[in-house]
Amino acid sequence: MKNKISIIGAGQTGATTAHWLAAMEIADLVLVDIVEGMPQGKALDLLEAMPVIGSDVYVTGSNDYDATENSDIVVITAGLPRKPGMSRDDLLFANADIIRKATEETVRRSPEAIFIILTNPLDAMTYLTMKVGNLKPEKVIGQAGILDSTRMRAFVAMELGVSVENVHCYVLGGHGDDMVPLTRHSNVAGVPLNKILPPDRLEAIVNRTRQGGGEIVKLLKTGSAFYAPAAAIAQMAEAILKDKHLVVPAAAYLNGEYGLKGIYFGVPVQLGRSGVEKIIEYDLNPEEQEMLEKSAESVSSLIEKL
Ligand code: NAI
Ligand code: 2OP
Repeated sequence: MKNKISIIGAGQTGATTAHWLAAMEIADLVLVDIVEGMPQGKALDLLEAMPVIGSDVYVTGSNDYDATENSDIVVITAGLPRKPGMSRDDLLFANADIIRKATEETVRRSPEAIFIILTNPLDAMTYLTMKVGNLKPEKVIGQAGILDSTRMRAFVAMELGVSVENVHCYVLGGHGDDMVPLTRHSNVAGVPLNKILPPDRLEAIVNRTRQGGGEIVKLLKTGSAFYAPAAAIAQMAEAILKDKHLVVPAAAYLNGEYGLKGIYFGVPVQLGRSGVEKIIEYDLNPEEQEMLEKSAESVSSLIEKL
């Protein structure tokens, strides 16, 4: 039987996620949005591209959640993006209402699905999905870490003139300004970043990574990044459907790992058909642990507000 992925929110990130996923030919796709005709129009346009790229997937769009019935994966991107000058946290209450509705409607129709959340503020919205849906924590995962890490990888590859494939970076923590790019664990073909880049260049890359989302918002003037976030969701969905046991940074529910409990937070996770199979714990030095705890405080305060 063919896999099915439903994407709630067919805006910039939702539609682009469908685009990447359709090319991967791993599942039929359903786009759902509140704007009448828009998900239907985007789905039809994408469907009509399939003969060109040779991908036998069926893409539909709807304003009705019934179309999502029996999904293997539900991706939630519905919500407001930030405007220039806004932080991700400013979106908390407006997006919480949207997440509640999207979760209730989809869980009812696909109780066995794995949920991938993108809506900001990411860690708090992922927590909310798990709570509202009364879902097992391992079945709800937030996308942020692959995005933050791929930004850092792109910057390092440009700086050193090496293939992006040789650059491995790990950005952990909450998806906010105090995210934690781990320079000691990040490497170029096995050589740690702090041994390959002078401290001032490394610091510049770390700062650009932390502000990577804001840099795009400033340039676009309306809306936020969508190509890279969507590619990250597609990678997670593929790892789940193909049961790859792939380790990626993503927001997972912590139960004592890294000394943190009861929050969703960016950590290395192993993804497979059942969702989060394992949380990998790095050996952190006191400075890294302190940065992680500071980031966790920001996430906890948002969860408390909810
Ligand atoms: P967008 O505005 O292009 O699309 C959002 C879509 O959600 C719109 O089409 C809107 O009609 C729809 N929507 C609103 N309420 C809805 C509801 N109740 N049910 C169904 N659909 C609904 O925004 P974009 O760029 O796609 O971003 C979406 C969210 O993802 C934002 O909160 C943004 O901040 C977040 N984001 C998070 C990233 C991450 O790494 N975690 C990366 C990029 C975006
Ligand atoms: C980003 O980092 C908007 O959170 C999103 O681009």
